[in-house]
Amino acid sequence: MVAQDGGVVVVTIDRQDALNALDLPTLTALRDRLHELAGDADARVVVLTGAGEKAFAAGADIKYMSGLGVDEAKEWGALGHEAGRLLETMPKPTIAAINGFALGGGCELALACDLRYAARTAKLGQPEINLGIIPGWGGTQRLPRATTLGYAKELIFTGRVVEAEEAERHGLVNAVFEPGELIDKTMETARLLATKSPVALAAAKTACNRALQGAHGGNLAAEAEGFGELFASEDAKEGMTAFVEKREPAFKGR
Ligand code: CAA
Repeated sequence: MVAQDGGVVVVTIDRQDALNALDLPTLTALRDRLHELAGDADARVVVLTGAGEKAFAAGADIKYMSGLGVDEAKEWGALGHEAGRLLETMPKPTIAAINGFALGGGCELALACDLRYAARTAKLGQPEINLGIIPGWGGTQRLPRATTLGYAKELIFTGRVVEAEEAERHGLVNAVFEPGELIDKTMETARLLATKSPVALAAAKTACNRALQGAHGGNLAAEAEGFGELFASEDAKEGMTAFVEKREPAFKGR
């Protein structure tokens, strides 16, 4: 779902019956839309949010993922990485308005945006470990860069889900607003950015992204490889099946 307000384009992940979890059609449509917006000069600023009041996105769709083999999981990871790279590198500002749960792939898409604003009621985290897998859309690289390596490891190793205010203290979000004010406050900044020189903003983004240089691209590729390989493990099957069957997983270490 897409709405345009002057030069600000709001892209809404809308699959509310699954807390906006991204299945194949939803993620493909998001990737395609971001690709179009990257090349659309009239779109000066892109805001990414989730439909409804409960979720930004509760992650990749676990029901879909539970049936994937290693090669399919790698393709699935690559699709999420494409969406993330578009948010990170398109020559205009991208802002996540985190209106509720931003978990797993949802947190990773927010992390790929240039700025993150959250509702006080939002909850963020990388709970993949509880499914016997790891973050697969850039979280192992972008969470340490946005916060600290120690904090990122804590969240990724434990799967702990945190409140917006804690996320703000660690630099995971730029600011926290009352839920009813989140979109207005986000639009305020987005409209301000839409008045700046698009040429200068694109140059500023490219220059800031140079801080990500070094092995960032290679590290993302290594994460994608590791994410896919885990789909050969019994623990990944058990973790995702347990979620679908609404029970605790019993991991065996293989
Ligand atoms: N995938 C598929 N379905 C999901 C989902 C997901 N990630 N998250 C929520 N849903 C579905 C639930 O299965 C449920 O569907 P049914 O009504 O058909 O049973 C519906 O959304 C509502 O969810 P809950 O009943 O669970 O709502 P809740 O308020 O009790 O709990 C929640 C909310 C804590 C977010 C819980 O839904 C949850 O833990 N979701 C999974 C979060 C998660 O593990 N995300 C990471 C996914 S892995 C990933 O993203 C990999 C990657 O890096 C690419």
